[in-house]
Amino acid sequence: MASITPTDPQLTKELFGDDFAWGVSTAALQTEGACDAHGKGPSIWDAFTAKKGKVLNGEKPTIACEFYDNYQRDIDLIKQLNIPNFRFSIAWSRILPTGEGNVNQAGIDHYHKVIDYCLAVGVEPWVTIYHWDLPQALEDKGGWTNREVVGWFTNFATICAQSFGAKVKHWMVMNEPAVFTGAGYFLGIHAPGRRGLGNFLPAVHHTVLSIVAGAKVLRALLPEAVIGTTFSCSHIEPYADKPRHIAAARRADALINRLFIEPILGLGYPTDDVTALKGIYKYYQPGDEDNLSFDFDFIGLQNYTREIVKYSFFTPYIGATLIKAENRGVELTSMRWEVYPQAMFEILKKYNAYPQIKKILITENGAAFPDEVIDDEVHDPKRTAYIQANLQMILKAKQEGLKVSGYFVWTLTDNFEWAEGYHPRFGLIHIDFKTQQRIIKGSGKWYADFLR
Ligand code: NOJ
Repeated sequence: MASITPTDPQLTKELFGDDFAWGVSTAALQTEGACDAHGKGPSIWDAFTAKKGKVLNGEKPTIACEFYDNYQRDIDLIKQLNIPNFRFSIAWSRILPTGEGNVNQAGIDHYHKVIDYCLAVGVEPWVTIYHWDLPQALEDKGGWTNREVVGWFTNFATICAQSFGAKVKHWMVMNEPAVFTGAGYFLGIHAPGRRGLGNFLPAVHHTVLSIVAGAKVLRALLPEAVIGTTFSCSHIEPYADKPRHIAAARRADALINRLFIEPILGLGYPTDDVTALKGIYKYYQPGDEDNLSFDFDFIGLQNYTREIVKYSFFTPYIGATLIKAENRGVELTSMRWEVYPQAMFEILKKYNAYPQIKKILITENGAAFPDEVIDDEVHDPKRTAYIQANLQMILKAKQEGLKVSGYFVWTLTDNFEWAEGYHPRFGLIHIDFKTQQRIIKGSGKWYADFLR
C-alpha cells in the first residue's frame, strides 16, 4: 500500500536553487464570491450551481471566501506565510458581463486593486486568464462549441493584457483545458453540464485555437511577459502487464495527458491512439493547422495523483476504465484520489521527454483532507507530509537533471471545489464558512517556515 513518506528534516528550499519559483494558486470562482457585485455578469458556474443536484449538498459559490471584498486579508496572509508568488485568475464576466461588447470598468478597477495590493506588499502576481468561468451569455450562444469563442476569448485576453500588462509579468492563458472540456462538455458533471462527443470535440478544438490565439496576443502586446498555460496530468499505469490493459492505459493517457499539450507543441491531436478523436477534423477550417501551436515560455503542470487503467469492452470510444482508488485499498484524500507522490516524479519524467518544452513549473499540487479545528488550531500532518513528499519527488527529478523550476501549492484557503462544494478542504489556511474566520493550518505554518 502506498503511503506518504515521512518528513525529511533536510528538505530545504535552498536545495531547489535560487531561481525556483515558490507560490500558491487560487481561482476567481472558487474564492471571490460577490457573484453579481459591481456589474458582474453571470458565469456558467453561477448558472450551473443554481440548478438542483449539480453540486454536492446544493452548495453555491456566491460567497465563497469573500476574496472579492476582502482580498487584502488573504494577500496579507500570503505575505505572512512568506510565499513570494500568488497565482489567481480573472473572472471574464466581471470585465465583460456578457463576455463581449462593453467593458465593465468596475471589474478592471477591481483587478487593478488586487494587483496593486500584491505589489505593494511584495507578492508577485501570476495571472491565469481563464479558469473555467465562461460568461453565461456566451454559453447561451454555444459556449466552447461555437467557433466564435476564439474571437470572444482573444478579445478578453487582449483587454487583460492591455489593462494589466504593465504590472503583471507572469501569465497563464488557461487552466486545465482537459478538465473543463471533459467534465463540462463530455461528462456533464461540471458547468455547463453538456455531454457527448458532439459537444466535446468542437469544445476541444476551439479551446486549443483559443489558447494559441490568447498566447499570441500576450506575446504581441507584452513582449517582456513570461507566458505559460497549465495542464492537468495524472500518472497512468496499466492494471496488469497484459497487452490489452497496456493498450487501454495508452488510450487513457492520450485523453488525460496528451490531448491538449501535443497540438500545442506542434505534434497534432493524438488521434492514432484514440480513433474517436478523428471526428475533431470535422471542426477544422482552412489554416487551422498553423494556429494550433505556440512556443510557450513555460508549461504549468498540475498533478495530484495516479490512475490505474483497465481494458473495458463496454466503455465507448476509449475501451478503457479507471479503477477507482477506493477499490484499490490505498490511502485516499477527501477527493477519493490516491495519495501517490511518486506520480509527481513520473509526470516530470514524462513531460521532460518533449524536447519542445522549454520550462516546466508545477502550478498546482496539494491535497484535501477532513481537517478539524481543535482549540483554535488545525493540525493537518497529512497535508504537510503530502506536500513534502511531492517536493522530495521534484527534488529527485531536479537532481536527475529533469527540468522543473517552480512549485505552487493548491491552495491558499479552503474554497469552493466545483461540483464537490465546500467539503474538500485543500487550503493551507482553514476557513469557517459561517464566520469567514481564518486559521493557518499546520501545513501553512510548515510552508511559511520552509520559505523563510
Ligand atoms: C485543479 C483545478 O485547477 C482547481 O480549480 C481545483 O480546485 C484543483 N485542481 C483541485 O481539484
